[in-house]
Amino acid sequence: MLFFDSAKAATTDLDPVQQMSFWDRIQPPVDISANGHKIMDLFNYTTFMVIFFFILVCIGIFGFSYFYSHKRNKKPYYTYGNKKSHKNVGLAFGMAVFILIDCAITIQSNNDLVNTFFNFPKGEEVVRIQVMAQQWLWNIRYPGADNVFNTDDDVVTINDLRLPIDKKVVVQMTSKDVIHSFYLPNVRQKRDAMPGRLSRIWFELKKTGEFDIACAEMCGTHHYIMKGKMIVYTQDEYDSWVKQANQVALSANDTEDPDLYWGWKWEE
Ligand code: CUA
Repeated sequence: MLFFDSAKAATTDLDPVQQMSFWDRIQPPVDISANGHKIMDLFNYTTFMVIFFFILVCIGIFGFSYFYSHKRNKKPYYTYGNKKSHKNVGLAFGMAVFILIDCAITIQSNNDLVNTFFNFPKGEEVVRIQVMAQQWLWNIRYPGADNVFNTDDDVVTINDLRLPIDKKVVVQMTSKDVIHSFYLPNVRQKRDAMPGRLSRIWFELKKTGEFDIACAEMCGTHHYIMKGKMIVYTQDEYDSWVKQANQVALSANDTEDPDLYWGWKWEE
């Protein structure tokens, strides 16, 4: 009886993922960014084209096996594919794959990088964040009211990134120890954080809520628990959080502590 009861409890107390339908479970995480659809478009195009050519090849393999089977063709016929028509068909298929997949993807991804993802926003309106990765957490730094990094009003958090909606955000990052990768699944972007080097990423968020930050580079024993939360606020919520966090920082930051000032001078 006891056993039966606990089994019943287990089925009624499923975790949210188990309660999702199969279709929902295989969906990618929700895209909350202004430009994430460009990554998805490229991914969907690649997947579609690969499936399309896979089906063509399957039709060829199974079709020819059927129409030229031993039952229909008692006498073997040897061909070496060196007739002009054979060469033309081979060349046409090769060129179709090369142009429709290789060239199209290269051109599109290059355009996206040059025009969007590597085209970093500048100016006062940009929200600036510094990230110091280490085994196995994310140190996050806000410049505070003076908008200058490494001063005593900086807000410093661990695994806790809060950002406003509809603002361009630039994150500069480096690492204390090994190579990590700052990954925002809901933004469709990731960037390596490397010791001795600054790297950067920018994005714009279009949905409020709580989302994951993950590490996407195998960085040691506890790589799998190196995750943080990104909370997206409305502008008003963000302003009041920043104000409050800044006040706390001003009174709590130990100005004698050299470890607190791991930030760097911001350069565009
Ligand atoms: Cu840091 Cu994996």
